[in-house]
Amino acid sequence: MSTTVLTLQSSNPTDVSSACSTYSLTTLQFEALHARSAAAKATAYCPYSRFRVGASILTEDGAFIDGANVENAAYPVGTCAERVAFGKAVTEGHKKFKAVGVATDISPPASPCGMCRQFIREFCELQTPIFMFDKDGAFVVMKLEQLLPVSFGPEALPPPSFLPA
Ligand code: THU
Repeated sequence: MSTTVLTLQSSNPTDVSSACSTYSLTTLQFEALHARSAAAKATAYCPYSRFRVGASILTEDGAFIDGANVENAAYPVGTCAERVAFGKAVTEGHKKFKAVGVATDISPPASPCGMCRQFIREFCELQTPIFMFDKDGAFVVMKLEQLLPVSFGPEALPPPSFLPA
């Protein structure tokens, strides 16, 4: 099965305004997601892969929370940019999110790994847009549901009041 991926340009006002109207974002919010996720790459700790990833999350109340990948000498212990950013956002008290931006130094843009898709699934609606920016400002945007179809989420579990004491 193949999925058509549409690559857009952040320097093209038509591409930006059509993405913004599809996902109910302002142009300023889009530009901030782009600039902040790209800037967050500079905070990555990635001496092993040298693959910098920056993430920025737009909260429902208009705040931006940024993160970057943090690697470890014990390789599997490292954490992706998206999970660093969501960990910060959630522990700072944010509960609802409007959009996610992820930036890398490659082209075409990288997409969140499977573990990050599931991590995002915990906190975001399936319609939440994930903006993926490449090194030159090209971007791909997909809903979480497109990146993680037929997903498992919190609503599948019985509410805590159903659990035995
Ligand atoms: N990485 C991320 O930060 N996000 C992803 O979604 C994919 C991969 C990081 C993990 C590791 O530090 C480096 O990129 C190479 O895999």
